[in-house]
Amino acid sequence: MNESCLDAVLAIEQASFSTPWRREHFEHEIAAPFSFPFVAQCDGVVVGYVCLMSLFEEAQILDIAVAPEQRGRGFARVLLEFAITVAREKGAEVLALEVRASNISAITLYERCGFVRTGLRQKYYDGRDDALLMEKYLK
Ligand SMILES: CC(C)(COP(=O)(O)OP(=O)(O)OC[C@H]1O[C@@H](n2cnc3c(N)ncnc32)[C@H](O)[C@@H]1OP(=O)(O)O)[C@@H](O)C(=O)NCCC(=O)NCCS
Repeated sequence: MNESCLDAVLAIEQASFSTPWRREHFEHEIAAPFSFPFVAQCDGVVVGYVCLMSLFEEAQILDIAVAPEQRGRGFARVLLEFAITVAREKGAEVLALEVRASNISAITLYERCGFVRTGLRQKYYDGRDDALLMEKYLK
């Protein structure tokens, strides 16, 4: 991900989340030393992205989304597998994430990629929806 992708990234972000990240969030991810944001492109068009944070033995998926019209084509899986590879290369031992407990498509994606459920934060999102905590061990 770089500055030139951000209009496309923001359009996907806004179409994907009720409280989307703003441009400054992505600019921070591009600049931060322990952040590794990537886009997936198809025919030169940004179709999705993943934001990975990897700091020593711990890594986290901060954000992942695919353009609504491009879903179901395997792009999220490619992005997530790539982030897993990068986290391993950076020396992370565990990759963690949080997901809305009602987000079945994302939870299924994560389980397909080897993440397991490790906890639940009640009413974490907007004081309403629970957050499911998931982890994948990388060693
Ligand atoms: C979740 C999301 C990233 C999946 O993107 P995608 O490109 O459609 O996913 P893929 O095509 O790579 O699918 C990978 C796996 O995810 C699961 N999956 C994807 N969409 C699904 C759906 N609608 N229902 C059930 N499982 C689904 C499937 O298990 C699939 O594996 P399979 O093909 O072996 O069955 C996409 O729906 C999205 O951008 N949602 C909005 C943003 C979001 O919720 N992000 C996660 C925040 S934690």
